[in-house]
Amino acid sequence: MDKAGYPINLFEFEDAARRVLDKGDFDSVVGGATDELTIARTRQVFDSILLRPRRLVDVSHRDLSTTVLSSRVSFPVMLAPSGGHQLVHPDGEVATVRAAGSAGLLTVLSVGSTRPMEEVAAAAKGPLWFQQHILKDKAIQHDLAERAKEAGFCGLCLTVDSLGFGKRERDLRNSWRPIEGQGSSVINYSPYFGGPGLKAPSQLPELIDTSATWSDAADFVAQTTLPVVIKGILTAEDARLCVESGASGIVVSAHGGRNLDTTVTSIEVLGEVVDIVAGAAEVYMDGGVRRGTDVVKALALGARAVLIGRPIFWGLAVGGAGGLRATLEILRDEIDLTMALTGKSTIGSIDKSLLMVGSVPGVPISRV
Ligand SMILES: Cc1cc2nc3c(=O)[nH]c(=O)nc-3n(C[C@H](O)[C@H](O)[C@H](O)COP(=O)(O)O)c2cc1C
Repeated sequence: MDKAGYPINLFEFEDAARRVLDKGDFDSVVGGATDELTIARTRQVFDSILLRPRRLVDVSHRDLSTTVLSSRVSFPVMLAPSGGHQLVHPDGEVATVRAAGSAGLLTVLSVGSTRPMEEVAAAAKGPLWFQQHILKDKAIQHDLAERAKEAGFCGLCLTVDSLGFGKRERDLRNSWRPIEGQGSSVINYSPYFGGPGLKAPSQLPELIDTSATWSDAADFVAQTTLPVVIKGILTAEDARLCVESGASGIVVSAHGGRNLDTTVTSIEVLGEVVDIVAGAAEVYMDGGVRRGTDVVKALALGARAVLIGRPIFWGLAVGGAGGLRATLEILRDEIDLTMALTGKSTIGSIDKSLLMVGSVPGVPISRV
């Protein structure tokens, strides 16, 4: 515990969240698809990457700030889109954006948020992107994007890896069902119920267009004046298609191992995506980021910033906006310390030379 009574690292936040949450709810957040091998591998990969610290560099003034697209953030971490924050705290996403804003960070709000996007935007102090899917009903898809723009979101995030939920065996074992308004929410879709595209909430799972191809992604980008970040990319081939579709950013992501198990992990393929994109879009990554050293490793492999998913829920569960703010501060302090101890005083100076050649499994890193 720290002085305020909060846990001292993100793993201990997870333990504290386990103690306060119902087992089914906790498992629904931390769990993944089938054998959860991608989740385990992600941590193994992060832990196996070795740092090469430099000495006697002036690190007396350290600047952790950077930009993501046009937004300045106080350190290179974003809050990943994740539905259902009211599952773990009654203030839900309103608490999330308050904590993120007070830490100087950007939140990507899920279309599955448990508070309406307009209410969340009104409560936010930091920059926001809105996360959507490619829908069968293009009128609803377009209207959601327009509402986000109207409400003040400065970017859209198009998630392309969620054509169906993964087989989440913890949920099956626990007979866990989200309660409407808590673990799952249709609140952002409620204006469309009864309309031609969406007669009833029960139709929502079928709303995602499983026939969508890259031309639909290009149409999504073209339908809005907001910059679009495509999330869920795990190959260089698809990263190239993101750029060709007009995306401004790419989130290398395995969806936290929640949809398809035994994929490559995002940290392993980050380097190949960065190489092929070659600066044509910003590249971010998520999955398993729990330590300041993880953030610095991802930056060294070329990520502009990282996103965190499950730690949002742990922070909220433990202490609402205050608990989440404490979680974010821990990450900030750990990034700062890692920079000091590796001889880096700015985010821009973190590069591949910080990593031991060959310590990213399967990825030969040539030193800069
Ligand atoms: C409970 C939960 C809900 C999520 N909901 C969404 C979502 O609505 N949209 C989305 O694009 N990703 C969603 N994700 C995936 C996250 O955006 C992110 O990719 C993942 O959590 C990152 O891994 P981490 O949890 O290990 O940090 C969700 C993740 C969790 C844990």
